[in-house]
Amino acid sequence: MADQNGEKKVTIQGIVKMKRDARRIVVVTAYDVLFARIVDSAGVDMVLVGDSLGNVVAGFDTTLPVTLDHMIYHGAAVRRGVRRALLVVDMPFLSYQASEELAILNCGKVMQQTGAEAVKVEGGTDEMVSTVGRLTRTGIPVVAHLGFTPQSVRTLGMRVQGRQESDASRMVEQAKALEESGAFALVLELIPSDLAERITDAISIPTIGIGAGPHCDGQVLVLPDLLGLNDGFEPKFLKKYANLAETVRNAVARYGDEVRSGAYPDAEHSN
Ligand code: KIV
Repeated sequence: MADQNGEKKVTIQGIVKMKRDARRIVVVTAYDVLFARIVDSAGVDMVLVGDSLGNVVAGFDTTLPVTLDHMIYHGAAVRRGVRRALLVVDMPFLSYQASEELAILNCGKVMQQTGAEAVKVEGGTDEMVSTVGRLTRTGIPVVAHLGFTPQSVRTLGMRVQGRQESDASRMVEQAKALEESGAFALVLELIPSDLAERITDAISIPTIGIGAGPHCDGQVLVLPDLLGLNDGFEPKFLKKYANLAETVRNAVARYGDEVRSGAYPDAEHSN
């Protein structure tokens, strides 16, 4: 289906087909309507309302304090700005792990109240594989997430995952099981490039990497990080495509100077 500008709406089937057609998938996060509109009009394929909002919007040290209400509030705001890209909302810590029934009710609530087309959950345990199956059979499309899964930061530590062969082969098996259970895409975070390549070759659903090297079917970055808004955050994988922190600081400083000097508002900006 094309919108008024002739742009085709991105669908889940379209995302899966991009892997078959060897077309790289572009994903960014967004948390509000202003940036949602901008990234959608820049032509990204998927917008993720990540629970990284706990870090980059709310200033928490981890994603653990993020609640279902936070995700619904930000998910609904982003929905109002995204027309073309596929919209995925992250499920926060404890909203889907305790039981499959809880997962269905909370993921369904997120879809109903935000208008998201899919949800993302973390982990590859047998329990999570089973939950992904139940969600998919209920009609809730799922993006899975392996490697460094931030909701497990207290048990994993924030470091590259899957360096040992035993961990790497377990991750390959988990990826296959998540595909088998119905996940339509898989985020791979902070893993060695060769492991990301192994997983990408082993499954037919697209892999979306962050800190996972060049062999994934697509890439995702946290928007404030790629825009250079997040002063001081400089992991190896991050490329900053702008320095908006500097741009904003300069603009606000100039505004301050002009208010203090009386140069603003001038006649042109007064009624
Ligand atoms: O929360 C988030 O933004 C994410 C991405 C980094 C994949 O999970």
